[in-house]
Amino acid sequence: MIKKIAEIASNCKRIVVLTGAGISAESGVPTFRGKDGVWANFKPEELASVAGFMENTEIVWEWYNWRRELMEKVKPNKGHIAITNLEKLSPNFSLITQNVDGLHTIAETQNILELHGNISRNKCSVCHLIVDEKLVIDPSNIPTCKKCGGKIRPDIVWFGEMLDEQLISQAMVDSEQAEIFFCIGTSAVVHPAASLPSIAKQRGAVLVEINTEETVLTSQADYFVQGKSGEILPEIIQLVQEKKSI
Ligand code: OAD
Ligand code: ZN
Repeated sequence: MIKKIAEIASNCKRIVVLTGAGISAESGVPTFRGKDGVWANFKPEELASVAGFMENTEIVWEWYNWRRELMEKVKPNKGHIAITNLEKLSPNFSLITQNVDGLHTIAETQNILELHGNISRNKCSVCHLIVDEKLVIDPSNIPTCKKCGGKIRPDIVWFGEMLDEQLISQAMVDSEQAEIFFCIGTSAVVHPAASLPSIAKQRGAVLVEINTEETVLTSQADYFVQGKSGEILPEIIQLVQEKKSI
């Protein structure tokens, strides 16, 4: 199956990859769902919503500081690097990620749409002005926006919030134009990101899913490869590279 996927990918001009938390699991970043996931220990509505931030601002910031510290220590894994290599081999490539850890950027993939924001950035909770990326937040003394006085929050899309319009429109267009669409390490339950693979498939893309477990998307996938993205992706991309150099 891996050979077949590589053959198709090597003949495609428009490649789109969608990633979720699973791509970073092998780097040591916990996923959200499942028994060891972040949401097994925390309630999303308490930590990742506007209402949660208003009610428990200090706790929310303590939690994000903890996640920031964790993410500063982790490095891209072989899966992230394989995606960068695939981009180099593709005439037209787009990476859409739901992850906020910035590992795709560190791995030097160029064309990235970060649909859910980035944990290293901050913004105003009222006027949404982006503030200094390196700001260190003291949860007991949260800085306020210079423009409107609103409390500073992480630049992450929370539950109940809309995605950046330009980013999601671009992600839709890219998905519609994809000839092959890789859906990697996502449970595919958070919309609108989770709709992108179906959009691509409806428009004729070959849908490839790579995940350690079956998901709600698996029945739609043309190819489902069960296993770790850090092991499977390098195998596929190596074969694409070999085919391209023939
Ligand atoms: P989930 O935690 O829902 O799903 C992670 C998926 O990765 C699961 O399907 C796992 O089976 C799979 N997985 C785990 N390890 C893997 C590995 N080594 N290789 C391949 N697959 C692996 O994470 P997401 O789908 O990314 O939102 O969650 C979507 C959104 O929900 C997140 O972006 C986040 C969360 O609330 C925001 O932060 C706004
Ligand atoms: Zn403001």
